[in-house]
Amino acid sequence: MTAWMERPSMAEALKERRRRLATLVEGPTVLWSGQSIGRNYPANTYPFRASSHFLYFAGVPLEGAAIRLEDGRLELFLDEPGPAYALWHGEVPGREALAALIGADAAYALAELGARATGAATLPVIDTATRAAQAQLLERALAAPHELDGADRALAKAVIALRLSHDEAALSELRRAAAVSVVAHQAGMRVTPKAKYESEVRAAMEGVIIANRMATAYGSIVTVHGEVLHNEQYHHTLTPGDLLLADVGAESELGWASDITRTWPVSGRFSPTQRAIYDIVLAAHDACIVAMKPGIEYRDMHLLACTVIAAGLVDLGILRGKPEDLVERDAHALFFPHGIGHLLGLDVHDIEDLGDLAGYAPGRERSQRFGLGYLRLNRPLAAGMLVTIEPGFYQVPALLDDPLRREKYADAVSWERLGQFADVRGIRIEDDVLVTETGTEVLTAALPTQAEAVESLVLAGA
Ligand code: GLY
Ligand code: MN
Ligand code: MN
Repeated sequence: MTAWMERPSMAEALKERRRRLATLVEGPTVLWSGQSIGRNYPANTYPFRASSHFLYFAGVPLEGAAIRLEDGRLELFLDEPGPAYALWHGEVPGREALAALIGADAAYALAELGARATGAATLPVIDTATRAAQAQLLERALAAPHELDGADRALAKAVIALRLSHDEAALSELRRAAAVSVVAHQAGMRVTPKAKYESEVRAAMEGVIIANRMATAYGSIVTVHGEVLHNEQYHHTLTPGDLLLADVGAESELGWASDITRTWPVSGRFSPTQRAIYDIVLAAHDACIVAMKPGIEYRDMHLLACTVIAAGLVDLGILRGKPEDLVERDAHALFFPHGIGHLLGLDVHDIEDLGDLAGYAPGRERSQRFGLGYLRLNRPLAAGMLVTIEPGFYQVPALLDDPLRREKYADAVSWERLGQFADVRGIRIEDDVLVTETGTEVLTAALPTQAEAVESLVLAGA
């Protein structure tokens, strides 16, 4: 048995998702779950993670399975484990029991799929072995997931329409993942004063996630070098005076993600310079959450955060000029080069396997602008959407030491004043925000963001 087998059945929600899909696409759909990938030899694998599109309709992470959906019906294709399986991996329920668990209408061995796959639309999975099997069974080439055409593209758009807004079953899982991540961050703050290395804080945080029978939703970032945006090094020592940036999120047993970042002082007390910048980032975070509601453009949330950050940096004397003009010139992006956030669901960057098809409304494309190019979501917000809000401030040497940028922003930046903030390398504050009919609900609100409250949590471990 695995942890997901002990979760309550989602069968009713799955049935409703299938019914809704049937109103959006014609003809059959076949989705594969994928298979685990060998790390260094075939029997030593990376942990299996089922394809998110499969999970959305099948509910549970069955390895090496496929489902066929048509007119609201679900057929499961899965081989019974061979006799050696139980020896090495333990007993698992058979095909019929699993079919009953997910509310399938019929269940077959995988060999039966060939005859039932003719003419089906599909979405390519991420592992190449399964993708080759998909193409072989469907007897056609598959485009890359972000370049789909024909029936596959129509299916992708239908699945996006469903996955963009979360149903109650999904929200229940997303709340559970968020709650565990909150406890993980509290644990990380508490162990920091006595920890010598980043890795000890990471261990405490991931320990909470593992102890709750969940997994991390992405590679944890726990670093005193927060200016490296996706830093996955954990060997640095912790020194009083450093800020520690932790971007760590749990994924529930059924695959639903959370994504939280907090930044705290190793000593338990922000320095005046750290506190000044922290409060600017927090002001941007809070302004977005207050402004969000259905109908608001997410891009406007990004620009709002950029303007609040630019205004704060002008007040500190780091930037010079009118905040709106600075944002127009992308001067804020010297310090806040990424987007304000992204969709969150089964994937931490939800549905990004399909490129920008989910993140960008039809007819919209990524901007080439320095300050907008990393915006992952550009759609009007609607009730049921879950997004992150994650403004930041970073001193990235590759950006700030670039001679062309130095010249372009010579009048906009006081490099001398900036030099007084050398103890602020990277700050990010990230929460998971559900759009509701009337505004928002922050699923991760139980974890404080106010500087004093964060300091108290750290000092509790001193
Ligand atoms: N944890 C990755 C991100 O925040 O986008
Ligand atoms: Mn994020
Ligand atoms: Mn994150």
